[in-house]
Amino acid sequence: MTERLVLGIETSCDDTAAAVLRGDTVLSSVISSQLDVHDRFGGVVPELASRAHVEAIASVVTKALTDAGLDPLAPGLDLVAATYGPGLVGSLLVGLSFAKAAAKRWEVPFVGVNHLAAHLVAPILEGEAERYPKIVLLVSGGHTELVLVTSRSEYRVLGATIDDAAGEAFDKVARFLGLGYPGGPGIDRMAKLGDPTAFAFPRALKDVPFDFSFSGLKTSVLRAVELNPTAKTEDLCASFQRAVTDVLVQKTMAAVAATGAEGVALAGGVAANSELRERLKSACDAAGVAVSLAGRAFCTDNAAMVALAGSVAFEQAGPHRFTLAPEPSLSLGD
Ligand code: KG4
Ligand code: ZN
Repeated sequence: MTERLVLGIETSCDDTAAAVLRGDTVLSSVISSQLDVHDRFGGVVPELASRAHVEAIASVVTKALTDAGLDPLAPGLDLVAATYGPGLVGSLLVGLSFAKAAAKRWEVPFVGVNHLAAHLVAPILEGEAERYPKIVLLVSGGHTELVLVTSRSEYRVLGATIDDAAGEAFDKVARFLGLGYPGGPGIDRMAKLGDPTAFAFPRALKDVPFDFSFSGLKTSVLRAVELNPTAKTEDLCASFQRAVTDVLVQKTMAAVAATGAEGVALAGGVAANSELRERLKSACDAAGVAVSLAGRAFCTDNAAMVALAGSVAFEQAGPHRFTLAPEPSLSLGD
């Protein structure tokens, strides 16, 4: 059987993305960022995000098809996949509606994709050997979850954040320190120049095996600045990032020990964090487990992971109906 040719579309938040996969091979991956639309507001403005998706979607999809060497008017696809949740409802509607219209026009099946499940398969796009069971640490702007993955399509959530997501903590602290949006890359850069032991920030839920909490940590950083107005931003960033990565690495390794997992993978936007990548790699090396650090291109939001997750979902359960509606609060359990 020839490998399935899939178009994936992702518009759950502030990136308009489209990609074409043949089997597990990425033929094209196009991302149009809306950073310049939102950065002066210090966060994503839902109404503006939907409008920007409407403006970008047709050209982003056309570019993904032509980059893949296909005729954009008659691409000969086998499947069209689009994210249907979780995310901003107006943003989701744009990609979902476009995908359905394209699938109708080309008379190919359509499938809706859970954005979080797409993050879980992203490491496969790196071409590394798949090892199951594995623990995936999914850390993004909206989610922090530890997941036991037993095959391409089967997984169980072991724990999650009870308040802020890890990326949200990065974004809020960065905003407070005037480091721009999104906050992760700025903190990552600053932290390299600071002392991670300068401030003793809390490590929450130390004794609760797999759940996380970051809102107290965020408050502690704000309080530290109030108490030490001359504190160096570099030291605050380094100490904050050390507190976050301590908890993430410790809980991931505890999940490995508890489940006997053979591998660990990082997914989601925070997986781009350099300290998290280094420390998780050392911990896995020390424990003798394989580690897969998704390439930065596939750990932040992209449509290649949506195309792959769509292909997996289609294999499991066939196409979705064209009545599929966006699900802004979709979780990994659904
Ligand atoms: O997965 P993603 O692209 O979008 C969501 O689905 O949320 O993740 C975006 C998040 C943002 O919170 C951003 O600050 C964070 O990923 N991020 C980072 C880094 N790069 C992006 N966090 C820490 N360090 C980074 N280098
Ligand atoms: Zn994401």
